[in-house]
Amino acid sequence: MSSLRTFLNTPLAVGSRTIDARVVLAPMAGLGHVAMRQVIADFGLPGFLSMEMCNARAVPGENRHTSAVFRWQDTEQDRLVCQIFGGDPQVMALAAARIESEGLFGVDINMGCSVSAICSKGYGAALLRDPERAVNIVRTVRRAVRCPVMVKFRTGWDNSSALAVDLAKRFEDAGADLLTFHPRVAPDRRSRPPRWEQITDVVQAVSIPVLGNGDVRDAASCARMVHETGCAGVAIGRMAIARPWIFGELRGLYVPDESSFEQATLQLIARIWEHFSPERAIKIYKKAVLYIAANFVFGHALWPELTRGHDRLRMEENARRILGVRPQVASTPNAFLLTS
Ligand SMILES: Cc1cc2nc3c(=O)[nH]c(=O)nc-3n(C[C@H](O)[C@H](O)[C@H](O)COP(=O)(O)O)c2cc1C
Repeated sequence: MSSLRTFLNTPLAVGSRTIDARVVLAPMAGLGHVAMRQVIADFGLPGFLSMEMCNARAVPGENRHTSAVFRWQDTEQDRLVCQIFGGDPQVMALAAARIESEGLFGVDINMGCSVSAICSKGYGAALLRDPERAVNIVRTVRRAVRCPVMVKFRTGWDNSSALAVDLAKRFEDAGADLLTFHPRVAPDRRSRPPRWEQITDVVQAVSIPVLGNGDVRDAASCARMVHETGCAGVAIGRMAIARPWIFGELRGLYVPDESSFEQATLQLIARIWEHFSPERAIKIYKKAVLYIAANFVFGHALWPELTRGHDRLRMEENARRILGVRPQVASTPNAFLLTS
């Protein structure tokens, strides 16, 4: 795997800027918050860290010290990508300008989210049904900022890669600096395997970097995606919550051992309670620890045990008692928990 490590540690130019690693944290609503990012960073940084998606309409007026999602620590600022969702090019451009003025690494445009609350408004993956608008958003955002402009998108609404390939070229022409491609159709909520061969189609269609995304779990699957698709790098979502050290491990900066799960969970509890009110903290923690539970053979039974109780002290006790005895790690993470 040393060639994978060398590849992942090779800098990648993204428009006017460069990332120092070709493996990045994918955006995840409810999971990619400031506390989780800090835990990930402590184990070894990815090339960039995606924040939770932000409503473009809200971004210009957000207060980074009180916002639920538009918040960060100064130490991560230049490695942060803020993903925005919306449908009005001008609104998206204003949000991008605010993101740039804050000194964040770049802006990512959400064209992948398929939940009905987003798609019913014509945002997220719904934009793939309206290519003119999608391209116009990229062009208008591009004109508004000099920082990297990125698009994260899916296959579209049917199984062919034709739309994705066509859109990728048009996004490039409109000025996008990087594409993250998740080869699943929009209504598919991660239950069927992603079609990596479609990443190859997108990679071959454009000359800007394309990050492959979907079901990278470890060094072997990461190497396979890079090898099979020719992608410029890899975006990892759920496994970064299940194993927050995955970036450090892939880059050769951290070697996990049997204490890593307990250690990461206790760090996560500390960070969440540091950044959020006790009421919010408990909800945020319960969501994240589901992904940690997915690592274990009886993960579905461990999760209720890990989340029993209502306060920080109890969560710490649960984590020490349950993870301290080193439960058996499953050969592949529990897919049911990971798709929840
Ligand atoms: C809980 C959750 C929330 C997500 N939220 C977003 C989002 O806000 N924007 C987005 O582009 N993708 C979102 N995704 C999709 C991920 O970025 C990623 O494309 C998907 O999980 C596949 O990658 P993985 O197999 O590495 O997890 C989300 C995924 C999960 C599990």
